[in-house]
Amino acid sequence: MQALKTENLLPDNAGVARVVEIWRGGGLVAFPTETVYGLGADARNSTAVAKIYAAKSRPSFNPLIVHVADLEMAQSIAVFDDEALKLAEAFWPGPLSLVLPVRENTGLSDLVTAGLDTVAIRIPKNSLAQELLRAFGGPVAAPSANRSGKISPTSAAHVVEELDGLIDAIVDGGECSVGLESTILKPGEPTALLRHGGVPKEAIEAVLGSALFDNENPDSPISPGQLASHYAPSVAVDLNVTAPQTNALWLGFGAQAEAADCNLSPSGNLTEAATNLFAYLRELDQLASQKGKAKIIVSPIPNTGLGAAINDRLTRSAAPRP
Ligand code: TXA
Ligand code: MG
Repeated sequence: MQALKTENLLPDNAGVARVVEIWRGGGLVAFPTETVYGLGADARNSTAVAKIYAAKSRPSFNPLIVHVADLEMAQSIAVFDDEALKLAEAFWPGPLSLVLPVRENTGLSDLVTAGLDTVAIRIPKNSLAQELLRAFGGPVAAPSANRSGKISPTSAAHVVEELDGLIDAIVDGGECSVGLESTILKPGEPTALLRHGGVPKEAIEAVLGSALFDNENPDSPISPGQLASHYAPSVAVDLNVTAPQTNALWLGFGAQAEAADCNLSPSGNLTEAATNLFAYLRELDQLASQKGKAKIIVSPIPNTGLGAAINDRLTRSAAPRP
């Protein structure tokens, strides 16, 4: 791909105006959300959406999440039943994506839905993301702004490491507060949890008053986020390790991991651990290369609340690489 001069934009009025101009012109801009930085394009422009796949070197066309500013725009794209509305009211804006029947003639590119009759949609909470979406006034398709299979970016600097020269611009909105991708739900009977993420399963079940079908939906398309190996540092990753090893750097969790090189949350707070996860994996990966260490070892993480999503990402980062 031809190298572009990637513009570094500030989160001010001029920056917002420039993002809108680039999106209207069919370009790619990485922008912050509360989960991770997204690589956004006009979801109605197939040429622009195709550029997302090229920039990420994504091996195949998988459906993308559509980001909108408000429920009105969401409802112009997808059909919401009572349950979907209940979930939207409880968790939007926020780190939840809903897979819903797509309306006809919405103008969405087929590359966004991958030809499915459903669309994944969300309203992000990050204030800069909201400002950009309102100013653009249309749907923005955005996967995480990393190269395919790599660690998701939670700061503008991470996006520069991944995609500088491959995209039109990056707008810097600081660090992502949640740090893990959105939870993906497909409302139905029962509602299916397609991906663990920033809204814990327990919080969703409390709102619905019923249990989620917590299994990778056999009908859902295979996508990078669901591949066994994803979020992969360049060195190997070993999980559930409780003591230091000489050839490894230790990503700890909790007070027991006193000797860790880096601790996701010394106090054992899962929200803090989620926020730090991708940034610390990235840091330890770089440090491992510098120090000639062969792997990253990781403390056990409790599998409740956000721990389920953290363990999902860690398992994929530790999986055998293709
Ligand atoms: O937090 C997030 O969700 C981030 C930020 C940027 O918003 N975005 C993100 O997008 O993680 P991406 O492309 O990495 O993940 C999209 C996921 C994939 O696992 C895909 O299978 C699923 O959404 N998906 C999209 N449309 C779908 C559909 N119609 N049916 C089932 N799954 C769908
Ligand atoms: Mg991703």
